[in-house]
Amino acid sequence: MSTSRKLIIAIDGPAGSGKSTIAARLAKKLGYINLESGAMYRALALKAMERQVPLDDGEALRKLAENTVIELEPRGEGNRVLLDGRDVSQRIREVDVTAASSRVSTHPPVRRVMVARQRELGKDGGVVMEGRDIGTAVFPNADVKIFLDADANVRAARRTLQDGSGSHEDRRQVLAELAARDERDRTRFASPLIPAPDAVIVDTTHKSIDEVVAGVEGVVKAVASGW
Ligand code: C5P
Repeated sequence: MSTSRKLIIAIDGPAGSGKSTIAARLAKKLGYINLESGAMYRALALKAMERQVPLDDGEALRKLAENTVIELEPRGEGNRVLLDGRDVSQRIREVDVTAASSRVSTHPPVRRVMVARQRELGKDGGVVMEGRDIGTAVFPNADVKIFLDADANVRAARRTLQDGSGSHEDRRQVLAELAARDERDRTRFASPLIPAPDAVIVDTTHKSIDEVVAGVEGVVKAVASGW
């Protein structure tokens, strides 16, 4: 599928809703790049942990963010993430960084730095950007806004499989971790996780990846043909 104009496509939703997979597949089909905004918060969280910057000190974290270079290199699935030139793609997915990223992202000064960078990365269009606030704060005028959601148990099960395990214990732990992150993302003061009023909400609980991609592609086509 090709569209004459290069669109900005925002995909938001909670952890495990399928954002990364859907964004990567859609970007591939459209010949767009996909950018994982969450990876930026994760990379900053890792640096804060390494430098022992307190995760509740918003000003210190903002300064750290301003003095940090985070690069996202789109690949087939997901992004290669460079933190001050160092490849941290694997490390930032680990459970300690995941928890820290959800705390780092609550601070408005940190979000201002990140949002400015995300706007710069996506401003020319031809991009599928995924996160929590892309349709509400980063690109409120995005051409297409999708909000993916799914039952928390299903999201936890997907994450457990993604992490290479499937045991009941692991799933319970992942569910607790997801619930804590969801709660923090949805109730924070700055850019909480909520669908933009003009977002198309897609419940992926009972849908396969192909079904969701096809549905989202349909929305993109409808928008593109409206011009
Ligand atoms: O998407 P991912 O799980 O990698 O994001 C890690 C954390 O970064 C999330 O739990 C969320 O707190 C934060 N985040 C955010 N805004 C975004 C993307 C991620 O607050 N646009």
